[in-house]
Amino acid sequence: MHAEALDEMRRLIETYLDPDRPLEVLDIGSLDVGGACGDGSFRPLFARAGWHYTGLDMLAGPNVDRVVHHGWRWPLRSRRFDLVISGQALEHAPRFWETWREMVRMVRPGGLLFLIVPAKGLEHRYPVDCWRFYPDSMGALAELEGLELLQAATRWANVWGDTIGVFRRPHRPPRQSWAFLREHLRDAVGTLLGYWLGHDRRAPVAATAAPDEPVAETLLADQRVALAAAPHRERFNRSLAEWFSYFQRDMVLDQVHWMGVKAVKNPMDCWVYQQLLAELRPRVVVELGSAHGGSTLFLLNMLDLLGDGAVVSVDRDRRTFALNHPRLRRVDGDLADPKVIEQVYALCAGDGPVLVVHDADHQRDAVLRDLRNFAPLVTVGSWFIVEDGIVDVLPELPGVPPGVAGPLAAVVAFLDENPEFEMDRSHEGCVITYNPGGFLRRVRPADAGGCDAA
Ligand SMILES: C[S@@+](CC[C@H](N)C(=O)[O-])C[C@H]1O[C@@H](n2cnc3c(N)ncnc32)[C@H](O)[C@@H]1O
Repeated sequence: MHAEALDEMRRLIETYLDPDRPLEVLDIGSLDVGGACGDGSFRPLFARAGWHYTGLDMLAGPNVDRVVHHGWRWPLRSRRFDLVISGQALEHAPRFWETWREMVRMVRPGGLLFLIVPAKGLEHRYPVDCWRFYPDSMGALAELEGLELLQAATRWANVWGDTIGVFRRPHRPPRQSWAFLREHLRDAVGTLLGYWLGHDRRAPVAATAAPDEPVAETLLADQRVALAAAPHRERFNRSLAEWFSYFQRDMVLDQVHWMGVKAVKNPMDCWVYQQLLAELRPRVVVELGSAHGGSTLFLLNMLDLLGDGAVVSVDRDRRTFALNHPRLRRVDGDLADPKVIEQVYALCAGDGPVLVVHDADHQRDAVLRDLRNFAPLVTVGSWFIVEDGIVDVLPELPGVPPGVAGPLAAVVAFLDENPEFEMDRSHEGCVITYNPGGFLRRVRPADAGGCDAA
């Protein structure tokens, strides 16, 4: 018996039982197996004046008062118990629906059933392990025996994913109304027709009793999950702009890494880059601004996967950059320096697609200068990606210096001067991009210069 199951049963007792009323309780699968499932049984939870606990199992042993020899007919009088409970047992019943019918038969009208069964967890054969159960399974079990379903939830956070079902046996069996009969008649006729025609024409199975709340709410009903989920839930409730702020502050500036190396990137953009790279299969990717090198290593690893190409990384500050990779071509210095520009052009010389990613100084004039200097490298069909236009859309983002009006203003000026480039919005479908308006595709050759002209 694992500790969470004991806690669940304790909670069910507190919620549904009156401590002052006498109680006859039958526990199905009561054998205390110890071992992997943990020692213990539910018996001590029912040790109270006026309450009487009976343990039933198919095997004799600790905590077993009645031994039955099969799951489908027990030598016990019907409707004798106020409460039938079962924890971690029904998954071991090969024909669980028959065992379930017997469990229900044991309960007096108006009495309750508490069921705890796993939704996940390792195979544990006592002597067989056949099934896993979800909240909808509780609905199906209720429907199978005409019970009222009071509670159905799965505790996904624990290792067994305990599914809890609470059922009440009605005082009277449900009325066989005309609607009910018509439903079954239609079902039967559909089955026959389906059989004759070779199709399954049965009416769709009616939805099982749905849990009271949607899945997220059901999960949140678990105290521990609720605690763990609370901060995330708060984030989900925020607007997209607020989400960007949170993401920039708590993730991009702090926690995003590629293969252990810090990357100052929105990971959603990396996915988009992966798509671009797979489409383009570049010979060279020029990264203007590499900082710690997480984004550089990402690009290098994507090229590793594609099996070709090199990354030219340019930065003037290499204090935190320590990459060493066979595809890496490193240029140290300022992007405005003609020697740096010359070195980059030399490394790009040759045939094949060239992609440029700009993630350096995001001020308008610096971006425009770098666009003018490096865009001629971009081959037709490829892109110059101007990163971080998000700062123009959401200037309140953490880490954005006040008054920055940068990448987007530069893009607008550049496109006016360079009709061979177009803004390609097709890669902004994920919405959560840091590069709105920043995917500039070269659609035709320029008059002079660049790799095409070379
Ligand atoms: C935002 S960080 C780059 C982050 C990196 N691409 C990533 O995603 O992890 C900007 C980098 O650009 C470099 N940089 C800014 N202006 C530059 C310039 N004029 N010349 C060379 N490097 C520059 C900075 O030194 C810094 O490392």
